[in-house]
Amino acid sequence: MHRIGIIGCGWIAPFHLAALQKFADRASVAWVADIDSIRADAIASRYSVRAISDYREGLDEVDCVHILLPHHLHCQVTTVCLEAGKHVLLEKPIATSLEDADTMIACAERNARTLMVGYPHRYRNCFQVFKEIVTGGSYGRLFMLDAMMDECLKDYLTGWTRRKETLGGGVFFSSSPHMLDVMLWIGGEVRCASVVGTRGGCNIEGEDTACSILKFESGVIGVTRHTWASPAAPVWYTMEAVCEQARVRLTTSPEGDLVRDGAECAWTTRIEAHGEHDELLLESGEGLDLTAEVEHFFDCVDTGACPQTDGPAARKIIELVLNAYADAERRGGL
Ligand SMILES: NC(=O)c1ccc[n+]([C@@H]2O[C@H](COP(=O)([O-])OP(=O)(O)OC[C@H]3O[C@@H](n4cnc5c(N)ncnc54)[C@H](O)[C@@H]3O)[C@@H](O)[C@H]2O)c1
Repeated sequence: MHRIGIIGCGWIAPFHLAALQKFADRASVAWVADIDSIRADAIASRYSVRAISDYREGLDEVDCVHILLPHHLHCQVTTVCLEAGKHVLLEKPIATSLEDADTMIACAERNARTLMVGYPHRYRNCFQVFKEIVTGGSYGRLFMLDAMMDECLKDYLTGWTRRKETLGGGVFFSSSPHMLDVMLWIGGEVRCASVVGTRGGCNIEGEDTACSILKFESGVIGVTRHTWASPAAPVWYTMEAVCEQARVRLTTSPEGDLVRDGAECAWTTRIEAHGEHDELLLESGEGLDLTAEVEHFFDCVDTGACPQTDGPAARKIIELVLNAYADAERRGGL
């Protein structure tokens, strides 16, 4: 039975606690920690757990931690937890620099502990089904992936999310990797990538809107489009795979206001194929559900297997993003 500590009681915390409630036979939450005691108390009373203000005081009671903190704190807190012998499920991205990512990967190896980074979408059932459909060959060869995330976050982006130093960049650094991770999982090694960004009206230092193009060694090309400044976002996350005989489109849409409703939000997720006939291949209420991600973490901790989204895999994503940023800076693309 794992004993879990939750570090950070912000927006994403209820998604982790909701997932953990499904593993009552494998894990129990010992405490939730936040330097903001109002936030810690609110989460603690909602999920009937204990609140603490300094996570270091609770480390002796747990064997695993979920780190749900601003990006500039990921390296510092992760290394403290790994050095204390804890397995870590860390929210994306791994860190704000490659140097920090290297420090964290080395620390996990030295302490023989699991370090998994939370890129949830590849673990979700709908993306598992999507991958099988688009790589399985029934619609012919896959040659293009085209993804879009559309979010209305003008009022949500406050505090640490506004500054490049604490966020690590703009939308392409912080959130487009939700699409990049799935594309790398489906498309394999990336040969080259570039990005352009602009400002659509969010009060942040980095770009709030970014488009990227990728070429994979497999020959597949990928496109990501992402804005935090959308005036309306009826569909949150779309990924379309263009195969020789059909376009296969996955859409996942909140039924309410995702920012306000958080883990309580209802969803519609669909996979459709448009080729010789139009087909509805999947329809479900699955949304931003972290159950499968958390299950993979426990499986890796229990067996010693390497998580799919381990430190090196997560480092690869920030390396791609930082190289694309550097190229865009040189060419005036940001
Ligand atoms: N998987 C997803 O779809 C998804 C969505 C949103 C956010 N995230 C990720 O989750 C992480 C947190 O994001 P969020 O939106 O919940 O942020 P948030 O700002 O809502 O919450 C962060 C919390 O950390 C607390 N905190 C800061 N320093 C601390 C410290 N030293 N010890 C304890 N608590 C401390 C803050 O008081 C705050 O409550 C980020 O890595 C973010 O990228 C992931």
